[in-house]
Amino acid sequence: MALTESEYIWMDGARVPWREAQVHVLSHGLHYGTGVFEGIRAYPTADGPALLRLDEHLDRLFRSAKMLRMTLPHGKEELRAATLELVRANGHRSCYVRQLAHLGYGVMGVDPTGAPVHVSIASWEWGAYLDGADRGVRLMTSSWRRNDPSVVPTAAKATGPYLNSALAKLEARDAGFDEAVLLSTDGYVSECSGENIFVRRGDVLYTPPSSAGALEGITQDSVTALATDLGLTVRRENLLRSDLYAADEMFLCGTAAEVTPVRSVDNREIGEPGPVTGKIRDAFTAAVTGADERYRHWLTYVG
Ligand SMILES: Cc1ncc(COP(=O)(O)O)c(C=O)c1O
Repeated sequence: MALTESEYIWMDGARVPWREAQVHVLSHGLHYGTGVFEGIRAYPTADGPALLRLDEHLDRLFRSAKMLRMTLPHGKEELRAATLELVRANGHRSCYVRQLAHLGYGVMGVDPTGAPVHVSIASWEWGAYLDGADRGVRLMTSSWRRNDPSVVPTAAKATGPYLNSALAKLEARDAGFDEAVLLSTDGYVSECSGENIFVRRGDVLYTPPSSAGALEGITQDSVTALATDLGLTVRRENLLRSDLYAADEMFLCGTAAEVTPVRSVDNREIGEPGPVTGKIRDAFTAAVTGADERYRHWLTYVG
């Protein structure tokens, strides 16, 4: 997906011009995938752009780093302030923010001991992440299984394990689908290459647990809160592949993908975006744009 350049990137404590935010080719993270990251969206509100659930994203960044035994050289408050300052400096009305901590240049070999930790924050304007988001996306079950929690800490949003997502996405696109569903090693539905999954069956919404290898999605948490406030029952339970085929409605959610309806899975039609998906999408939009006051505490205004 093409990238729209902004003016600045924050790198190791200072704002630099976008094209000067560069790293050495012998950076440890480039060779061994030793990095952690976050994706955050800022939405337009009546009071200017606001970052959605910034604190939860920062907390997950620090939790991910801890799982990889990386010590970030900047504290949460500093990264929070740097993120707000960058979005302000880039002059966005709305944007996507990418925070990254990676191991840099200085040691070679798998052992990361002694490698410096670099932190960067970028922001750019990004529209719909998945092709066909409005009419519903077409999914394919990947032949690649999801990273197993016994192999890598799947709760960490770490760079290396995204090879698994990239392989699944390529396979799905090559086969003419929009996105891939990954199953866990024991055959339960885990998540998509960059989104969590929700299925409606009757009056209940189901979403897979993190024990199936899925990231603990912050949008998954937001959708759970919105759905509960709409009077729906949400259950975090293991799902079978056939549960997707039998879904009354299905949608994906994530920071980049927001709430995206699913039209079919493995060529089994689920259909046009359904009524519950529509209600959740509307509730999500009202929450992230500050129109629904009940969720204002999710927003950090850029100012
Ligand atoms: C693999 C994967 N699952 C789920 C998600 C959704 O997580 P969140 O809602 O916190 O962005 C993402 C995106 O960050 C992801 O990359």
